[in-house]
Amino acid sequence: MVTTDLSNFYHFYPSLAVVVGVKSGAETNFMTAAWHSGVSHTPPLYLVSIAPKRHTHDLILSAGEFTVNFMPMEELKITHGCGIVSGSQVDKINRLNIPLTDPLKIASPVIASAYAAYECRLVHQYPAGDHTLFVGEVVAAHMDEGRLSERGILDPAKINFTMYQGTNTYVGADAESQRIVPRDLDELLETES
Ligand SMILES: Cc1cc2nc3c(=O)[nH]c(=O)nc-3n(C[C@H](O)[C@H](O)[C@H](O)COP(=O)(O)O)c2cc1C
Repeated sequence: MVTTDLSNFYHFYPSLAVVVGVKSGAETNFMTAAWHSGVSHTPPLYLVSIAPKRHTHDLILSAGEFTVNFMPMEELKITHGCGIVSGSQVDKINRLNIPLTDPLKIASPVIASAYAAYECRLVHQYPAGDHTLFVGEVVAAHMDEGRLSERGILDPAKINFTMYQGTNTYVGADAESQRIVPRDLDELLETES
């Protein structure tokens, strides 16, 4: 099927659902985002795409910083909850009982139950359609080392990832589906028929 009807723009899902945090003055807020990515290694830059109508949008502009929290599936109440109510109406930290950890380099807190989190200083912002691309330099990374494999990467046997499929639907990744493949093309062609 091919269509020009892009009213349901979901073909690139599933996408990891993260929770973006920000503290501006006395106010701290968290918001779910499925549109985000690492965009540079040196310096380390992380991008989050946030619509101007989100309460978080102007908080990031005034704070000049944000955190990105990678949440395991068992924290779905927090991950989804931060995406269905606005901090302009609801104190999400209290309603969702979000556990916080002190940041190292910025003022915005990290979620204690995240398996990893970035502290970002805002370095660029670009309008993109009905969203704004906020690019942050990662100035500190938090990591739950107990979730790593012997090879030093996130172990799906120890983390159930939270991936968003759109329309209030999430899916995890089971350890059995993990594939470790050669980097060499000849080897790859030999091992993968
Ligand atoms: C799984 C999920 C992913 C979302 N991804 C984004 C996103 O990438 N960008 C965005 O602007 N809003 C996204 N939203 C919507 C916001 O999280 C939602 O509007 C939230 O209530 C905004 O909170 P705030 O007003 O406190 O900032 C997403 C919501 C959900 C449930």
